Amino acid sequence: MFTFLKKQQSSKVIIAGESATLEVPRGKTMLEAMLADGLAMPHDCKVGSCGTCRFKLVEGKIGELSPSALVLERDALSQGYRLACQAMPRSDLVIALDAPLSRQQAVERFSATIVATPRLCPDIIQLVVELDRPIRFIPGQYADLTAPGIAEPRSYSFAFAPDRGEATRLEFHVRHVPGGLFTDWLFGEERTGGTLELSGPFGQFRLKDSAEAMLCLAGGSGLAPIMAILQHARSLGASRPVTLLYGARTQQHLYCLGEIEALRSAWNAPFEFIPVLSEEDERSGWTGARGLVTDPIARLAGLARTEAYLCGPPAMIDAAEAQLVQQGVLPELVAADRFLDKSTTR
Ligand SMILES: Cc1cc2nc3c(=O)[nH]c(=O)nc-3n(C[C@H](O)[C@H](O)[C@H](O)COP(=O)(O)OP(=O)(O)OC[C@H]3O[C@@H](n4cnc5c(N)ncnc54)[C@H](O)[C@@H]3O)c2cc1C
Ligand code: FES
Repeated sequence: MFTFLKKQQSSKVIIAGESATLEVPRGKTMLEAMLADGLAMPHDCKVGSCGTCRFKLVEGKIGELSPSALVLERDALSQGYRLACQAMPRSDLVIALDAPLSRQQAVERFSATIVATPRLCPDIIQLVVELDRPIRFIPGQYADLTAPGIAEPRSYSFAFAPDRGEATRLEFHVRHVPGGLFTDWLFGEERTGGTLELSGPFGQFRLKDSAEAMLCLAGGSGLAPIMAILQHARSLGASRPVTLLYGARTQQHLYCLGEIEALRSAWNAPFEFIPVLSEEDERSGWTGARGLVTDPIARLAGLARTEAYLCGPPAMIDAAEAQLVQQGVLPELVAADRFLDKSTTR
């Protein structure tokens, strides 16, 4: 009887080439169990749309939250590839991965008290929370936040680089998405003193260990992980030339200008900041760039070895990636964090 119950409650997953066996509790996805166990399984969206978390099913049965066939090519599917963020074991499994996994900080759950929500610009607030204990994370990563009464968590990038890799007080930049469950709740009334559940850290977006020039491109609240990565690079004493392209609608929507200037003036190498406004009034006297944040890429030269860090709405990132590769940037040197939401994942 005991063995029967145990079988129902979790599945054992053998990962080819890994010494330890993974235990996946019933109701959890493969990705959730891997991250909770501290396995650095590559993933970006966690909602079955980027294809990053693929694994090969060698033996056993799974159920899927959404079909892998929506994302993976027919060839990959016929070889047995499936998505770890969508797969729930229905039996014990044997799986194989494209590359060996390293171990990372296991994902943990925290209680987060909202301590301040100052407005950064018309549609973005800084969400400041205090955790019940410190969290360790790598600048560029994100956390999942769950609000009372909203079943599914929403992802938000840490907006700063923590001292010595950990922090108890956290900052996020949250953009209001009208009609969005979490942000309507957050922007709807004063939430200071309220409590959120936080789990993390998640994500592979981070500073690469290199000395190459950096091209950072952000749209809206996509500035959050870019600021964290740049602060991290500065704390390491980086002397890499930086170009920061930042897209906003109008001058009012530009934020963190003081922090960017502080970074720029303390930087050990050339640092060019190019704000680009898409809806600025023609008569406003703005003399900076206008149009799409991707427009200036065509005028940038010598990009061959440049590392690109892109963050913001998926359509903006797709356009930037295509243009950068066309300009000679190596695809493997482009790192991107797409702020997917329900309108892009359903
Ligand atoms: C890795 C990652 C990091 C992120 N970091 C940040 C960050 O730092 N800052 C930030 O501001 N955002 C970030 N995001 C986006 C964030 O997670 C939320 O998706 C966003 O805030 C919207 O949440 P919401 O609950 O308000 O909207 P949702 O309720 O998720 O809805 C979003 C939009 O989709 C529409 N919608 C809802 N359901 C459907 C449906 N079934 N079909 C079509 N449309 C639908 C809604 O009307 C709304 O317009 C990140 C996303 C990811 C994946
Ligand atoms: S993390 Fe699974 S498809 Fe994106």
